[in-house]
Amino acid sequence: MVPLLVLMMLTGAGRWLPETQALPTGQSGPLGSQGQPDGQDAMAAKAVASASNVFGMDLYEAVRGGGGEASNVVVSPLSASAALALALQGARNRTAQQLARALHVADDARDAARGFRALLARTKESEQVRLRMANKVFAARTFGVKDDFRRTAQEDFRADAEAVDFLQDTEGARQAVNAWVGNATGGLIPELYAKGNLEPSTLMLLVNAIFFKGNWATPFKEENTKERPFHVTPSQQVLVPTMRDIVNADTADLPQLNASVLQLFYNDNETKLLIFLPDEVDGFQQLENNLRLINLDEIKFDSLAMEVQLPKFKIATNLQLKPALMKLGVDDFFDRQKANLTGISDEKGLFASKVLHRAVIEVTEKGTEAAAATSVELTNKFVPDFRVNRPFIFMLVDVYQTVLFMGRVTNPLE
Ligand SMILES: *[C@@H]1O[C@H](CO)[C@@H](O)[C@H](O)[C@H]1NC(C)=O
Ligand SMILES: *[C@@H]1O[C@H](CO)[C@@H](O)[C@H](O)[C@H]1NC(C)=O
Ligand SMILES: *[C@@H]1O[C@H](CO)[C@@H](O)[C@H](O)[C@H]1NC(C)=O
Ligand SMILES: *[C@@H]1O[C@H](CO)[C@@H](O)[C@H](O)[C@H]1NC(C)=O
Ligand SMILES: *[C@@H]1O[C@H](CO)[C@@H](O)[C@H](O)[C@H]1NC(C)=O
Repeated sequence: MVPLLVLMMLTGAGRWLPETQALPTGQSGPLGSQGQPDGQDAMAAKAVASASNVFGMDLYEAVRGGGGEASNVVVSPLSASAALALALQGARNRTAQQLARALHVADDARDAARGFRALLARTKESEQVRLRMANKVFAARTFGVKDDFRRTAQEDFRADAEAVDFLQDTEGARQAVNAWVGNATGGLIPELYAKGNLEPSTLMLLVNAIFFKGNWATPFKEENTKERPFHVTPSQQVLVPTMRDIVNADTADLPQLNASVLQLFYNDNETKLLIFLPDEVDGFQQLENNLRLINLDEIKFDSLAMEVQLPKFKIATNLQLKPALMKLGVDDFFDRQKANLTGISDEKGLFASKVLHRAVIEVTEKGTEAAAATSVELTNKFVPDFRVNRPFIFMLVDVYQTVLFMGRVTNPLE
């Protein structure tokens, strides 16, 4: 459930529309702004926010796997779509079509650029709730970047370009990227690139960072927090620090989902955290499979003072988005032979090697802090890899193909 919460928190109450459907007027805009659309900018911002939400559902489904996995997940669709929409500005032909389709934006990449420009202009920090989004381009000193790309990066995505030396000073480049991300995420993501994770062959990084900090409209009293049972499965429960208080909150039944939803406001009275809770302990999988049925605009909340119990939690996810994006049809972008990124540079064989995504959220008595960062890595060197980082089978075989030993390793530490 948690990823969904973040999704909504960061993109406002945009509804998840199929891309062909027209946007209704009067719905609240992206990033917590409110009111009627105020012209073309508002429409453009809304269009990218809605597109990002639809992309977010696709992405969430692609990364959550087939289900049954117990691990926590948090992603930021908006962060991923911002970094990829910037890449889209320099993509051409089929590479561009595939990216645009996956992001649910128009084939004409300028539309997405205008949308992000408007969305960034509307992202304002109020006294109560801090929400920041920033983009940045890191380029190898020797890498020739086209003027048009530089311009759209700067003017539409507010992404300044910084020259670094990936090849000769990989460690210095890594620290520069980490420092920028650390600052842009309020210190919540101090190390986007762990030591050794940045390739010297990198030519360019397109980076997005998002930071959110909000206090609850009604904070939970700390003295009420104590260990309470959380049902991991119908037969397994764990004790977790759980907040409890009488707060003003909104709830709604979602009978078509066998679930209900709790809406907790931050103290700008606009931004909110939504918690979707299945009616039954074993109903989570069903709820997760049906997330697309949720239409945020159609939920009718009842507002009242009630006792709310909510676990405190802090979770983080570290993902390579390439497999998920490939599932969404983004193929050419990752293929050295097929990628067409000639809008970024004339460098031969330019393609995307990885899309790194890190997100973190912490929910406490006071409120919520959350951050995400996405980095699209461009290079022209294909370095094949074979990383034995999951359970595997081994066979030790002699010259006559006789298997001398065989076995499996499911946990090298055991
Ligand atoms: C990239 O796409 C553009 C526009 O379709 C085309 O003119 C160009 O030849 C393509 N370049 C490569 C290297 O595929
Ligand atoms: C665009 O891509 C298509 C399909 O890959 C290819 O047949 C065509 O030659 C490309 N166009 C240009 C101008 O590169
Ligand atoms: C650090 O973040 C703050 C707040 O977003 C910003 O104003 C400042 O320019 C950033 N500093 C650097 C070095 O990026
Ligand atoms: C809700 O629960 C009922 C009864 O268990 C079941 O028949 C139905 O399929 C469930 N609906 C959803 C959307 O999971
Ligand atoms: C939010 O609502 C509360 C209660 O109605 C009010 O006291 C407070 O001033 C509002 N805050 C803002 C920022 O509008």
